[in-house]
Formats: sequence, structure tokens, C-alpha cells
Amino acid sequence: MMTRVPIIAGNWKMHCTRAEAQALVAALTPSILGAAGREVIVAPPFTALDTVARAIAGTPIQLAAQNLYWEPKGAFTGEVSAAMLRDVGCVAVIVGHSERRQYFGETDETVNRKIRTCIEAELVPIVCVGEILSERDRGETAAVVEKQLRGAWSGLDRDAITKCVVAYEPVWAIGTGRTATPAQAQEVHALIRRLTTTLASADVAGNLRILYGGSVKANNVDGLMAEVDVDGALVGGASLQADEFARIVNFEPLS
Ligand code: PGA
Repeated sequence: MMTRVPIIAGNWKMHCTRAEAQALVAALTPSILGAAGREVIVAPPFTALDTVARAIAGTPIQLAAQNLYWEPKGAFTGEVSAAMLRDVGCVAVIVGHSERRQYFGETDETVNRKIRTCIEAELVPIVCVGEILSERDRGETAAVVEKQLRGAWSGLDRDAITKCVVAYEPVWAIGTGRTATPAQAQEVHALIRRLTTTLASADVAGNLRILYGGSVKANNVDGLMAEVDVDGALVGGASLQADEFARIVNFEPLS
């Protein structure tokens, strides 16, 4: 029997000054301290990482960044390296979020380079995949997710894939209030796990944590977490409200 510790991760996107970040963490911490058997991650913008790192010190909350660049240093204006993220206390990085693919030219190839960089630096890549609405409507969800995952993991061995977390985020569900149903999420999560068996091994697939993202809220998390292949959530909008996020962290899977 595989036991995968669920992960609830908050992607704050381009929100929160340092003062706002500090207030959010302070409001969140008490209700998270009691949540056993789950990992909690927050991903503030770069400018608030240091503030949040200090605020979560001594709590079980872990720190992630929303992006990184693959070069270790140099003339790359505006970019941030893995070593810089390690230095500020990050343990994970969101890689290939659909907003980065859509607005900032992220491709399967750049996602692959960033994942390799994370693994070398011992940062956990939270690798995002997911189809847009027209792809779902055309019945292409499985093909799109497979292409993204194969691209993301291209050239990676089993050992490297073991170090990844995957987030399935149907783009039509992100920020729209239109969540995938638990059954829709489960179908794609099961596909990702099967594909991982092919690309790595049954063992790696059995241990891989696959998060669902896209309008996860306090009122739908319990249904999603009841699905056998849903191992957590990547939460955008609802992670900016302390009470909402705390309830998501304290999910109770429907039986
Ligand atoms: P959302 O965002 O929860 O606001 O839909 C999820 C995400 O983009 O990770």
C-alpha cells in the first residue's frame, strides 16, 4: 500500500506586498499547526520570499517560488537562479504554470530545463500540466497532458522523476470558478500515473504526488481529495484568504 502525504500549496501569483504577505502568514499559521499528515507550501512573489521565510520559521509551512531560471548566474536581467531561491529558504518551485506558458513563452523545452535545474539544486519542481478549453472540447485532453509530461521529463531518469511533484491544472478551471469535477480530475490524474509507470516505473508512479489545481475552494476540496489519485491541491485565488486556505489545508475527504 502506497502512502502519499498530501500537499496543499498556495500559489499567490502577483499578489502581496511584504506587509500583506506577513499578515496573511500570521493569519494562516494557527490553523495550520493542527493539520497533521499533510504538507503545506506557500509560493509568494519573489519580493516577499524573504519576509515569508522569516514568518514561517519554526512552523511546518514550507516555502516555494513561482518560477526560476536555469542559468546559475550571469547577465540575465530580471531572472532569479536556483541558488538564490535556496538562499532565501525555498524548498520547491512551481514550474510551467499555464500563465507562464500563456503569457511568458514557457514551452515544454524551457519547462524541462527548469526541472533539471531544480533537481540539481535539490528544489522540488511542482510541474504544471493541463489543457485549454478548446482542447478538452475536442477530446484532446489526454494527448495534451501526455505531450506536456513527456516534454517536461524528457531525458530525466527514474531517480529524477521521483523528485518531482505534478500539478494537473485544466486551464479552463484556473481563476474561473469552474472547477473540474472530482471524476474529471481523477480521470486525468490516473492517466498521469499510468504514464509515469511507462516513463519511469510502477514504483515511481505509485509514490508520485499529483495535485489538482483550478478553482479549488473550501467547498470543493473534500470531494476532490476523496479521489484515489488526487494527492493534494495547488490553490490560487483561495490561498490569498487565510480562512479559506486554512479550511482547504484541513480538508476531510468525502467518504
Ligand atoms: P485558482 O488558480 O485556484 O485561482 O484557479 C490555481 C492556479 O493557477 O494554480
